Amino acid sequence: RKIMAKFPKEFLWGGATAANQYEGAYLEGGKGLSTSDVLTNGSHTEPRRVTWKNPDTGETGTTSFFEIGQKGLPNGAVPAVLDGYYYPSHEATDFYHHYQEDIKLMAEMGFKTFRLSINWARIFPNGDDQKPNEEGLAFYEKVFQELKKYGIEPLVTLSHYETPLALAINYGGWVDRSLIDFFVNYATTVMKRYKGLVKYYLTFNEINCMEFMPFMAGGVTDPTPQNKAQAAHNQFVASSLTVKAAREIDPEIKVGQMLAYGPRYTYTCDPKDQLLVMEEMQDTFFYSDVQTGGYYPNYRLKYYEREGIKLDDRPEDYDLIKNYSADFLSFSCYGSTTVTTHEVDGNDGGNFIMGVKNPYLKTNAWGWATDPAVLRLALNTLYDRYRKPLWIVENGIGWADQVSEDGKIHDDYRIEYLQENISSMRDAITIDGVDLMGYTMWGCIDLVSAGTGEMRKRYGFVYVDKDDEGKGTLARTPKDSFYWYKKVIASQGEDL
Ligand code: BG6
Repeated sequence: RKIMAKFPKEFLWGGATAANQYEGAYLEGGKGLSTSDVLTNGSHTEPRRVTWKNPDTGETGTTSFFEIGQKGLPNGAVPAVLDGYYYPSHEATDFYHHYQEDIKLMAEMGFKTFRLSINWARIFPNGDDQKPNEEGLAFYEKVFQELKKYGIEPLVTLSHYETPLALAINYGGWVDRSLIDFFVNYATTVMKRYKGLVKYYLTFNEINCMEFMPFMAGGVTDPTPQNKAQAAHNQFVASSLTVKAAREIDPEIKVGQMLAYGPRYTYTCDPKDQLLVMEEMQDTFFYSDVQTGGYYPNYRLKYYEREGIKLDDRPEDYDLIKNYSADFLSFSCYGSTTVTTHEVDGNDGGNFIMGVKNPYLKTNAWGWATDPAVLRLALNTLYDRYRKPLWIVENGIGWADQVSEDGKIHDDYRIEYLQENISSMRDAITIDGVDLMGYTMWGCIDLVSAGTGEMRKRYGFVYVDKDDEGKGTLARTPKDSFYWYKKVIASQGEDL
């Protein structure tokens, strides 16, 4: 059923990025190192690696992205930048020096909003510093002023896989309750400084990635189940304290949760598959039940009981969680994952996406399935569960775009993906009445892939000349999808 209808006038169309994948200038302007700065490049088949050294023995080495999430680092090792490795975040696609040009391109497309993250280590280089770094604060102020010039509303993620590295080394990351105060101090500093310039904040990008990527999600270097549970708890308390601080600083500010939403489908109609889906989804819903719903769900408490996990908590933590839950729920959603308890061919564990091939869906070169119905399903599920406004802050398709002989990038596959996905979210609004605030397509200007560290896995409306070895002029070229998205925004989503 295809319904032709416009999106609401106030709908926030735009694009999304993250400092560690886009900004570069990793040591300029007084910035400290963050956890992303010790991640090497990888590929679809070769995982990214965390580089480390042992300060006592002088030994150096690397641990894969996946292994650090399961086993942590070898005894005595601390994450460190080493000579002889390529770290894609260090220059990324250099928004730091291209922000005026890039924002101009966003304005040309008609963006109403732009999602970016503030790199925490640019403001507090070690995370626990007494005073903020003025140069870092001034940089983002210039960015927000530039956005204001074009009437583009910033949507700011406070922590997008960018825990200051010193907090990972000296405190073991978010496992330590001290990080609650450090984070709230950081959040308060920026909310005060950008009062009147920034209305929308997100606390932790894809907070549920604590389940399988605790180093990325929270600088956790010793990922036992107990430590992951504690790190998540500390982030929940920090989120609530941020909501509380926002209300005191400026009641206009809205603070949202950011969830990685990867819905699971059953491969067969065997009820065992349905139970598997339910259990896997609990690992996601736990995070939104607490942060947006305001309560610890029983299924999680029972799991903690079974595993002997005991939180270092305070009675007031639960009052905060209840009284200062997120104002809205934002999420990333790229497609769906199909799972089964049965043995089947075609298991594809590429990148972050697990599960089996869904015979009804197409996939890209990294094995990510395109699902034309996923956004309508996701929006209905989340709206029914929480009755709070929603915001799709990541959706898109990674593709190894090629520059044609005419110098252009003909990315019709991207246009097709977005046509399907935007139609699906339009159905959720017009047919089902879901309250959706906006849509920011992921990686609107080409940037480094978080999962693989590659440049060739591109998402943007704008091509950036840079390759997987870090070579290129960084020149920006609009792709065909750039002109298509401009038309979509201008027609309020009617002309897809
Ligand atoms: C989300 C992250 O998981 O997916 C982004 O919030 C990331 O940081 C995006 O870039 C796409 O994943 P990838 O691995 O293709 O970059």
